[in-house]
Amino acid sequence: MALMTPARPADDIAEILVKADVIAAKVKELGVRIAADYQGKDLVLVSILKGALPFLADLMRATQIPLALDFLEVSSYGAETESTGVVRILKDIAKPIEARDVLVVEDILDTGQTLSYVIEHLRAQRPASIRLCVLLDKPARRVVPIEIDYRGFEIPDKFVVGYGLDYAERYRNLPFVGVLKPEVYARES
Ligand code: IMP
Ligand code: MG
Repeated sequence: MALMTPARPADDIAEILVKADVIAAKVKELGVRIAADYQGKDLVLVSILKGALPFLADLMRATQIPLALDFLEVSSYGAETESTGVVRILKDIAKPIEARDVLVVEDILDTGQTLSYVIEHLRAQRPASIRLCVLLDKPARRVVPIEIDYRGFEIPDKFVVGYGLDYAERYRNLPFVGVLKPEVYARES
């Protein structure tokens, strides 16, 4: 009897936008910059679950100064590829950030609605400073203007998956950032 080959997430990818080794080199570069900028500061990396997890895991190991981690979870698109513009905090950070130096670490800046909400929410807790680090920037889609202090890559207006980014909770485990084949969306709807 022939064994079934399990379907692999990579089989659904039409095009790779950012290869794994290119991501790794960029993340190292960002970590070195962050370590230099935050030397001697009370750095807290505040990351947004779940998409930023691979980026955070690699970035913190590239940032060789003392630091702490905290997490937020916000409402997401669900299975949709378009934001509703409504942001809700599902899980808040665990420890006070007052007078500490906060660096928000996020996978992607799209319309900016999620991050503007999150940054205002954190700013209200009076950190000493608050800056933003995003792996991917989709400037074509911006609705709310946001300043990015550390940016990995600017990408075109395409829905991407991999390296933490999902479509309907899948593809987060791809080691690269890519675009799905159109038939994947047809399959789900
Ligand atoms: P924004 O509020 O429109 O900036 O959306 C930000 C959030 O939407 C990100 O944290 C992602 O979770 C999700 N998102 C935006 N663009 C993409 C994409 O191309 N692929 C997967 N998720 C995305
Ligand atoms: Mg996200």
